[in-house]
Formats: sequence, C-alpha cells, structure tokens
Amino acid sequence: MNRRGDAFREWLEERLPVGQFLEDQLLKYYAPKNFNFLYFFGSLALLVLVNQIATGIILAMHYKPDAKQAFDSVEYIMRDVDWGWLIRYLHSTGASLFFVVIYMHMFRGLFYGSFKKPRELLWLFGMVIFVLLMGEAFMGYLLPWGQMSYWGAQVIISLFGAIPVVGEDLATWIRGDYVIADATLNRFFSLHVIAIPLAILGLVVLHLAALRTVGSNNPDGIEIKKNRDLVGIPKDGIPFHPYYTVKDLYVAGLFMTIFAWIVFYSPEMGGLFLEHPNFDPADPMKTPEHIQPVWYFTPFYSILRAIPSKLGGVVAMGASIVVLFLLPWLDRCPVKSIRYRSPLFKIALTAFVISFLGLGVLGTKPVTELYTMMARGFSVIYFAFFLLMPIFSSVEITQPVPTRVTESVIPLSQRKGFQWRLIEEGIRALQHAPLRYQLNNLLARLRGKN
Ligand code: HEM
Repeated sequence: MNRRGDAFREWLEERLPVGQFLEDQLLKYYAPKNFNFLYFFGSLALLVLVNQIATGIILAMHYKPDAKQAFDSVEYIMRDVDWGWLIRYLHSTGASLFFVVIYMHMFRGLFYGSFKKPRELLWLFGMVIFVLLMGEAFMGYLLPWGQMSYWGAQVIISLFGAIPVVGEDLATWIRGDYVIADATLNRFFSLHVIAIPLAILGLVVLHLAALRTVGSNNPDGIEIKKNRDLVGIPKDGIPFHPYYTVKDLYVAGLFMTIFAWIVFYSPEMGGLFLEHPNFDPADPMKTPEHIQPVWYFTPFYSILRAIPSKLGGVVAMGASIVVLFLLPWLDRCPVKSIRYRSPLFKIALTAFVISFLGLGVLGTKPVTELYTMMARGFSVIYFAFFLLMPIFSSVEITQPVPTRVTESVIPLSQRKGFQWRLIEEGIRALQHAPLRYQLNNLLARLRGKN
C-alpha cells in the first residue's frame, strides 16, 4: 500500500478498528481442520441471503403492492424493465435454493450433533431464523398475486380458523379483511420487505456471535478447544483465513454456476420453483384444481393433510416444527458425531430422512387414499424419531471417540487435480503479496508492460 493508503488505514483504525476486527475474526480464528463439504452450507446461506436482499431491493423499485396492479407490475418487470426478468428469476430461484441450503445446513447439524452442549443457543437462533424464513417465503409468495399466491394464502390463513374460540377472529385479523384482499397484500408486502428481513439479519448476527463464542463443531464431534499447544492455539485448528476463505470462495463459484444454470435454463424448475397456476392472475371466483404450497413447505403440509381433523392437522404441523427446537434436550447421547454412534441411531436417522423426503414428495401430489395412508405412515416415523429419542439415545452403545481429529491433513502440494492447484495458487496469492500489488501486476501484464 502507498503512503497515503497507509495513513488512511491508520486514521481509520484509530477511530474504527475494522482491520483489527477482521484479523481477530478471520486470521486469529482457528477452525477445525477436518471440515467436509457439509460445512460449506453456512457460508452459502450467507451468500443467498445477500442475493435475496440485493435483488429484492431492485424488485421493490418496480413492484406495486396493490391488488389491482400487483400481477401486471410483475409482468412489467419481466417484459419491460431492463434486466427485470433476470432480477426476478435470481430472486425466485434464490428463494428455493435458500431452502435447499438451509435443509442441508440443518441435516449437517443432525449428523454431527451440532445442536448439543455447548451449541444449544446457536441451534435455537438457527431455528428462529428457519421459522422466520418460512414466514418470509410465505408472504413473498402472495406478492405476484397469481392464482396460487391467492389460494395458497387463503388455505394457510384459514387454518388459524381451526383454533377454538379465537380462531376465526384471528384469521380475519391476519388478513385485515374477511377474505384475502388488498389489505392482506399491503401488510404482507411491508412484512416481507422490511420487518422480517431486518429480524433475520439481526438473528444471523446473533447466530454467528454464538458460533464464534463456542467455536465450530466438526465431523468427528470433538471440541478442538480442549487440546491446545503451548501458546493456546488448538492443535486441530487452522486459521479460518486463508484456508477456509479460499475453500468457501471455490464452493461459492460452483454454487453460483448451478444457480446460473437454473436461472438461465430452467427458472420454473418444471413448476416446482414457480408453479404454473401462478401465471394466471388471482381470481377469487375460481379455485385452482389442486392447491399446494411450494416444494419447501410440502413436508409440513403433508403432515397437516395426513390428520383427518382440521384442528388436529394444525396442531401436528405446529408440533413438527416445535420438536426441532427441543432437539438439544431430546438427544441424551453424550457422543455428538454419527461416526461414533450406535447402528440404532443410524437406522433411526435414515428412517427420519426418508420420512421427511417422502412427506415432501407426497405434499406435491393430489390427495388419494393411498397417498394419505403413506403420509400417515411417514408422519408417525417423523414424530417417533423425536419422541423415542430420549429413550434410544440414553441406552445407545457408542464407539470410543478419539481425542484428536482423525483425518490427517494432506499437504496441498501432495494433492492431485486442477482444483487443488487453483486453491494452492489462491492461498499463495493471498499469503505472499497484498491483493492490490497482485492486481497491479496482472493489469500491467495485460497491458503488455511486464
Ligand atoms: C439465514 C440463515 C442462516 C445462515 C446465514 C447461517 C450461517 C451459518 C454459518 C456461516 C455457520 C458457520 C459455518 C457452518 O458451520 O456451516 C453456521 C453454523 C451453524 N448453524 Fe447456521 N445459518 C443459518 C440458519 C441456520 C438454521 C436454520 C439452523 C438450524 C436450526 C442453523 C444451525 C447452525 C449450527 C448448529 C451451526 C454450527 C454447526 C457446527 O459447528 O457443526 N443455522 N451457520
């Protein structure tokens, strides 16, 4: 950096120690050295969150939250606004991929017991984010004011009517009218654009602060802070920067390639990401043949439909989310990682994953007797996994957990393949020269001066 740059940095550091903060959080933060691909989903969630906010801000510049104009304003964005189609598809695809990423992120927690002591609060913040994210997606889906937006919201809000005594009044209060109407659209727009994103952002900060306090878990489920060298550095840790920043950047590149492929070649994803009836404007007089939520809600929607009574269905659907909050206290096994847990736990977890996926698929299908029976079976497995957990997790025969992480870190120079060379080059560039120097060098070379 030149002298003026150095002077500015010093001036800034004295007033707001940004550099010190980044150094503490990235260079001096030691993360377990055995992270696998499941550990990339947290940073991918941050990436998708930024995408949703950035594209959402631009969409809100052209969208009209008015029952008479909403549908047309989305068509206007798609046809007339410069790059409007791209911004909209980035936002709608981003919503679905957010849930893919979050479900992987949560399943990782289940595999490696990341919700257990001392990470209970981290898990609870995550769960509140998950509930808010569902609210955010539900309210966003009403905004295009298509047939599925309208009727989906109608079905879900009318569920509140099943609550004894206050139910009907509550549903009317949420809608702001006796049916889904302009008042509903206005309040959903306000909540979707301002209130919920603010709450999610605040909770993500708390989530990361809680993570930084206790440190990351890892695929071996070992607390690396318990094993430090003479200067207090965890022996099984490596500095987050440059090792994981480079890996995260590489994975972000892969992820964005898949993202771009969907946006450019299959933004509707065969009706999964953007449902076909939503290309017709909302019509309160015409109910679509099958009303179903977007794919990421279908596991919970299936549980709702599996129960014959409306109130029972609502209670079961609510309970299916509440049990996830209780996970840190339901699992009594002292061993965190699935690697060292009993075959019983592995079978139970496999059954749970199959039931969750099964419920998801069934939720996209029309109701038939066979599908209802199957949904009931999967719902029983879903709840049995959590309700029997205090019993099977306390009698489990586990394997001995090693004291140090088991994977030896293979030096980069000994790894084969293009991607490892790319990572090695990336690390070298970050370690040995300031980025600005590298860029200047590159520019000079491109201009033919070097
Ligand atoms: C906007 C949504 C979210 C963002 C941006 C986010 C971000 C992150 C990041 C960056 C990490 C560290 C990297 C990693 O371990 O993958 C992390 C860890 C973690 N997150 Fe999230 N998260 C979100 C939602 C959730 C949800 C919904 C849950 C579960 C209910 C959750 C549970 C956890 C847990 C348990 C860890 C620690 C994992 C471990 O150390 O093994 N997060 N999160």
